[in-house]
Amino acid sequence: MILVTGGAGYIGSHVNKLLNNSGYETIVLDNLSKGHKYAVKWGELVNADLSETDKVKEIFQNNDIEAVMHFAAFSSVAESVEEPEKYFKNNYENTLNLLKVMKEFRVRKFIFSSTASLYGIPKSIPISEDNELKPINPYGESKLMVENLLKDESDFGGLKYVSLRYFNAAGADLDCEIGEDHNPETHLIPLVLDAALGRRGSISIFGDDYSTPDGTCIRDYIHVNDLADAHLKALKYLEEPFNDSNIFNLGNGNGFSVKEVIAACKKVTDIDFDVKIEGRRPGDPDILIADSKKAEEILKWKPQITELEDIVESAWNWHKKIHV
Ligand code: UFG
Repeated sequence: MILVTGGAGYIGSHVNKLLNNSGYETIVLDNLSKGHKYAVKWGELVNADLSETDKVKEIFQNNDIEAVMHFAAFSSVAESVEEPEKYFKNNYENTLNLLKVMKEFRVRKFIFSSTASLYGIPKSIPISEDNELKPINPYGESKLMVENLLKDESDFGGLKYVSLRYFNAAGADLDCEIGEDHNPETHLIPLVLDAALGRRGSISIFGDDYSTPDGTCIRDYIHVNDLADAHLKALKYLEEPFNDSNIFNLGNGNGFSVKEVIAACKKVTDIDFDVKIEGRRPGDPDILIADSKKAEEILKWKPQITELEDIVESAWNWHKKIHV
C-alpha cells in the first residue's frame, strides 16, 4: 500500500491514477483545502490534515504502508510572499509530523514533491541538480527546508528518499478524468485557456523586458503524466535495497517563452483573444530550463509528451470538459 498525501491535488491525483493502473494499492490523505474529492477516483480517500497526528497514525496502524509519496503542500509563490508562516507550517512542519509518524511505524521510503523554485535565480542554464540552492520566496524556502531535513533523516535516521524537483507542471490526463483545477488559478496555461473560452477578457503578460529573445520569461513545461511516470520510477528505484537516497530534476529540457505559450494556445484552440502587456510579477526569473540527464540516466526516465502543442492540447481538452 502506498500512502499518497495530497492525492486529490493536481500532480498527486495523476500519480495516484498511475500507481493504481500499475498494480499498486493506494490510500490518499488530503484535507481537500485545495484538492478535489472528484479527483480521487482510485484508492481510498481519508479526509485529514497532516497536523492531525492521531488520524495520520491511524492510517499507518490500519494499513501496511510500504512507501509515502508526499504532495500535500501549498504551492502559490505569490501567496507565500503574503503569508509566509502558512507555508512554513503546512509545507515544513506538517512534513516533519509525517516523517515522525513514518519513523514510529518504521516506514522508510519517501518520495518528495520538490520544485525548481529551490534554485531561485539560477547562475547557469540548463539547471542541473548541483546548481546553487537559493530560493527567492517563502514557498521555495519551505521546500528547501524539507529537502535539508530529508538529507539529515537519510544520513542519520535510516530514511530512503527521492526528491523530485519539478519545473513547470502542465497538461492533463489524456483520458480527461482529472486535470489542473486550481481556485484561484495563477498558472499561465489554464489562464490563457480561460481567455480562449471567454472566461476572462484577456491574458496579461507579466513583463516583456526580460533578457530573452522575445522579452518574456522562458519556462520548461513538463507534462503531468511524465511527472507521474517519474514518481513510479522513483518508487521502483527505492524498492531496490542498494539504491541510495537521491534528487532529480524533472523537465523537458526545452524552454518556451510566455509569448510562445500564448501562440501555441491560440493555435490549438483556434480562438483569438486579447493579450495585454503588464509589469513584471515579483520574483520571476528570466529563464528556467531543466537539465534532467540524471533522471534519464539513473531512473531511465524520459518525457514522452514533449511538444508544447501536445501539452496544451491535453490541457485544453480538460479545460473544456470542466468549464464548458
Ligand atoms: N505569467 C504571465 N501571465 C499570467 C500568469 C503567468 O505572464 O497571467 C508568466 C509568469 O510571469 C511566468 C510564466 O508565465 O513567467 C509561468 O508562470 P506560472 O505562474 O505558470 O508558473 P511559475 O513559473 O511562476 O511557477 C511554477 C509553479 C511553481 C513553482 C515554479 C518553479 O507554479 O509552483 O514553477 O518550479 F515553484
